[in-house]
Amino acid sequence: MASLSGKKIILGVTGSIAAYKSALLVRLLVKAGAEVRVVMTPASRDFITPLTLATLSKNEVKSDFTEDLETGTWSNHVEMGLWGDVFLVAPASANTLAKMATGVCDNFLLAVYLSAKCPVFVAPAMDLDMHNHVTTQGNIQMLESQNRRIIEAESGELASGLEGKGRMAEPEHIIHELEEFFFGKKPLSGKKALVSAGPTYEAIDPVRFIGNHSSGKMGYRIAEELSAQGAAVTLVTGPSHEKIQDDKIKVIPVTSAKEMYDACTSRWASMDIGVMAAAVADYRPSTVADQKLKKSESELSIHLERTDDILKYMGGQKITQFLVGFALETNDAEENARKKLEAKNLDMIVLNSLEHKGAGFGHETNRVSFILPNNKINRFELKSKSEVAIDLVSQIIEETK
Ligand code: CTP
Repeated sequence: MASLSGKKIILGVTGSIAAYKSALLVRLLVKAGAEVRVVMTPASRDFITPLTLATLSKNEVKSDFTEDLETGTWSNHVEMGLWGDVFLVAPASANTLAKMATGVCDNFLLAVYLSAKCPVFVAPAMDLDMHNHVTTQGNIQMLESQNRRIIEAESGELASGLEGKGRMAEPEHIIHELEEFFFGKKPLSGKKALVSAGPTYEAIDPVRFIGNHSSGKMGYRIAEELSAQGAAVTLVTGPSHEKIQDDKIKVIPVTSAKEMYDACTSRWASMDIGVMAAAVADYRPSTVADQKLKKSESELSIHLERTDDILKYMGGQKITQFLVGFALETNDAEENARKKLEAKNLDMIVLNSLEHKGAGFGHETNRVSFILPNNKINRFELKSKSEVAIDLVSQIIEETK
C-alpha cells in the first residue's frame, strides 16, 4: 500500500525560489497515495505556474477568494481549511511565516490557514541572513509554541550563491515527516543504509566483458525492505534488469568492480548500515584493449588481476556501523562463512546455499543462514527472496536495537 494512501493534504506554496521543488513534492505526495489540493500566494505564482501544480495534483489550484466576479462564485476558504488531514506550507517564505505567526490574513492561503483545524507543517525556505534574522527566528519559535510543526531548513548552497542554512528540506524528507506523523516512527527511522547488488562487468575490450549470473534480485529486495522499515537507502547496483519500486531509494548504477568500490567506499563513513549483496568480480583483465580484439588461429590468454575487496575495506573502516556480507560456500560452509565474518570484521554474514534446487543465482528463492559473532546462527528454510529480505532486515533491527 502506498505510504500516504487516502490522506488529504492541503499544500500551501509561497513566494520563495524553493517553490520550484513544489512540483516534485506534489508528485511524490500523489505517488504516495495522498490527495493533494494546492493553495498559492500571489507571489508564488512568479516562481511556479498554477498549471504545473494543478496538473500534478490533478486538482484545481486556488489562490483567490473569488473565482468568477460576474457569476459571484467564490472559493470557500473555510471548506478548504476543514477538508485537509494536514496543512503543509512548503516552501514557507519569511513573509508568510511572519503573517502566520501573527494572524495576518491578507490572502487566500492565510485565510485557509486560519480556518484549518488540522495539524500544520511548515517548511521554511529563504536566504541565510533572512533565516538567521532575529525576527524570523522569533516567528519560527512563535509558530512552534502554537504547536505548528517546523520542518527545519537545511544547510547548503542557496539560490543567492551563499552557503548556509535556509534551503527548504528535500521533498523526500518532507514526505518522510508526514509518514512518521500519520503512522509513527519506523524501526529504522533516521538510519542510513548502503546496499550493493547485482553483478559487475569487467571489460576485456570495448565490446566484451567478464561477468556473472547474479540477477540483483536479493539486493533490490533488501533495499526495498530497509526503506519500508524507515531507513534512507542508497543502492549501488551493477547491471541488472530489476526495477526499484520505491522512489525514496537512491539508486547509483555502476558497471565494474572499481566503480562499485568507489561508489560504496566514498559513502560508507556517513552510513549506519551496510548490506553488500553484490556478486563482485574477484578478478579483472589487467589491461583493457582499446580496440575490439581480432580473432586469430592461435589461442588467446587474458591475464587477470585481483580487484579490491569492497566489503573488507568497509569492515576495516567500520566504527559503529552494522555491516552485513554474503558468502557462497560449497564445502564446510558454516565454518568458512564464520572465518569470513572474522576476517572481514563483519557483524553478520548471510550464508547462501547452492546445494538446494531453486536457491541462489537468478532464482526467485534462496536458502540462507545468518551467522553472527559468538557462534550465533539462524538457519532458514527455502523462501522467496522478498521473505529472505524481511528476515534479514528484522535481524538487523534486532541486532541494532
Ligand atoms: N565482496 C566485495 N568486494 C569484492 C568481492 C566480494 O564487497 N571485491 C563482497 C560481496 O558483496 C559479498 C562478499 O564480499 O558480500 C563475498 O565474499 P567473497 O570473499 O568474495 O566470498 P565468495 O565469493 O563467496 O567466496 P570465495 O572467497 O571463495 O571467493
